[in-house]
Amino acid sequence: MDLGLKGRKAIICASSRGLGKACALSLAREGVEIVINGRDEKVLAATRDEIIALTGANVTAVAADVGTPAGQEALLAACPRPDILVNNNGGPPPRDFRELDRGAVLAGVVQNMVTPIELIQRVVPAMQEQNFGRIVNITSLSVKMPILGLDLSSGARAGLAAFMAGPARELARFNITINHLLPGMFDTDRLRSTTGRMAKMQGKSETDMAAQRKSSVPAKRFGEANEIGELCAFLCSAQAGYITGQSLVVDGGLFNAV
Ligand SMILES: NC(=O)c1ccc[n+]([C@@H]2O[C@H](COP(=O)([O-])OP(=O)(O)OC[C@H]3O[C@@H](n4cnc5c(N)ncnc54)[C@H](OP(=O)(O)O)[C@@H]3O)[C@@H](O)[C@H]2O)c1
Repeated sequence: MDLGLKGRKAIICASSRGLGKACALSLAREGVEIVINGRDEKVLAATRDEIIALTGANVTAVAADVGTPAGQEALLAACPRPDILVNNNGGPPPRDFRELDRGAVLAGVVQNMVTPIELIQRVVPAMQEQNFGRIVNITSLSVKMPILGLDLSSGARAGLAAFMAGPARELARFNITINHLLPGMFDTDRLRSTTGRMAKMQGKSETDMAAQRKSSVPAKRFGEANEIGELCAFLCSAQAGYITGQSLVVDGGLFNAV
């Protein structure tokens, strides 16, 4: 299927590795001019080279912390009028909710709620003018299903979905969509490090811990990052203009509800 995206421009935040990188690659394959981002310059440059080699796309790398005003300025300077914005970021580390002081709570909310809101505010006016915009926020299954120790991450991301419910409807008449992707367990650096931490806490080997986690998923495997990337590209397509304000769970059946 031709997604009708050739020549479009996209900013994909936090995309030097993992799920963000997969979204960048899928969009680049569709002929989208992309801006990728991460804090580690070396990793980011390697990802830029890899995506260019695989797709021949026009790729700009912006090394910056997306959560800072300077980082956001740098992203928008590289692509002032994006047709597509993929919001992604790291998440707060797992912690007992009793240990979170005000500073930690606010930092988590800035990371996973305020940052995407600020970027959306910045890109929407040009999208309205051009009568096209696709915004995808990568959040987490934890918005729907609690994950021990990730309460701050879950709360901030759920706040983002609730915040965007209104703007998604208000902007629909401009052919702008805002949707959320809620990954379950995807095989990325982040998943490997959380599995390692859980293994240590439970006195198990990492291999056993990974097997236990996989067996909890009805699909009996972790997701592959490209399964998020391809869905993201579809949500950004011309054809997906009638899908907005949705939270799409992508979890191999882990969320056990209708
Ligand atoms: N993987 C899963 O199973 C899963 C499940 C649910 C939710 N999620 C969420 O999905 C998001 C992506 O996860 P992932 O598994 O792809 O993580 P990952 O493999 O650790 O990759 C994270 C990416 O984000 C970049 N990044 C992190 N903080 C950044 C910042 N402040 N500014 C700019 N770039 C930043 C990293 O590059 P640098 O470190 O160089 O900055 C890297 O490119 C996270 O919010 C995670 O909580 C993941």
